[in-house]
Amino acid sequence: MTGGDGNDLAAVVEKSRTQTAIDALRAEGVYDSGRSVEPYDGSHIAVPVTEAPQSTAVTDVRPLELPRRERGLDDLLADRGFSASEIDAAPGSWAVIGSVILADFGDVSAEGSLSADRREAAGEALLDLHGEADTVLARGGIDGTRRDPTAEVVAGTGDTETIHVEHGTKYAVDLSRVMFSPGNKAERARMGEVVESDERVFDMFAGIGYFALPMARAGAEVTAAEIDPDSYRLLVENAMLNGVSERFRAVLGDCRNVETTADRVVMGYYEAADYLDAALESLVSGGTLHLHEATPEKLFPERPIARLEAAADGRSVDVLDTRVVKSHSAGVVHGVVDARVD
Ligand SMILES: C[S@@+](CC[C@H](N)C(=O)[O-])C[C@H]1O[C@@H](n2cnc3c(N)ncnc32)[C@H](O)[C@@H]1O
Repeated sequence: MTGGDGNDLAAVVEKSRTQTAIDALRAEGVYDSGRSVEPYDGSHIAVPVTEAPQSTAVTDVRPLELPRRERGLDDLLADRGFSASEIDAAPGSWAVIGSVILADFGDVSAEGSLSADRREAAGEALLDLHGEADTVLARGGIDGTRRDPTAEVVAGTGDTETIHVEHGTKYAVDLSRVMFSPGNKAERARMGEVVESDERVFDMFAGIGYFALPMARAGAEVTAAEIDPDSYRLLVENAMLNGVSERFRAVLGDCRNVETTADRVVMGYYEAADYLDAALESLVSGGTLHLHEATPEKLFPERPIARLEAAADGRSVDVLDTRVVKSHSAGVVHGVVDARVD
């Protein structure tokens, strides 16, 4: 069923029958998933096979060199007897966070989604693919103010505590309790790059230290507020883990109650605009503010800029940069406005 035997045989089939033919060849046990399916001519494609098919209708069978390919999840699932529709329903994307794989299994109650058994088998295939991981979590939504994740263990040891290392920053995280957004990776790195040594930073929605840690590692004096006790515990642990505790003040509670003076305020929360008054109270004249927002695509960056200008109440706002971090949901982006406020 799989390649690796030096075989150079291909079945030529009509393009319009590609998927049907692959399914049939796979069912017959002659599909070679170790080599790529390639265009043959304008109306045909070449499907790698290990031997001439007996029951599948094909236009031709001929020796043909097709490129070898790395075995991906689809191949591993096919080896486990997954049908084409089950392979379609398996995760199309996942992220490896430390020793945990966070995978998108979609809505498990939706028609055509994988059964619990199949989800476990797909999880085991993901573990085969990533030897460094030992647990697979089905990524659910993220609920509420505290951004608590809803995640379910589908395979492996079930140990959801791990240490993820990114750009040299160590993040101890328990993925069953707190969120970790793979899509914010570039923004996390960026915060460590824009900050100057000895700057006073106020991270109002610190989580486990997503932005606060790279900034403290760059030499900033950080005050980090976090309202959720689970995240707060990890925030304190992470400051120690990264050797920055001496220039790191973690505060458990609502950021609006934190008194501090900052050269830079980070507002990494989708509803951050509601907290602009508190942010501006802490920000010195000439300081920099990073305002995150979940914004309908068509309203970005105008809406967060207008909100910032309204809250600035006469202080001048100079927009330094605006960028989309990632897609938030259909038609909605996670965007950031960087601004200097005098
Ligand atoms: C979206 S998460 C952090 C995201 C992180 N900045 C990132 O983009 O990966 C927002 C965090 O803010 C915390 N939070 C929400 N409201 C808060 C408040 N009023 N004061 C302090 N922390 C708050 C939540 O518990 C959560 O950990």
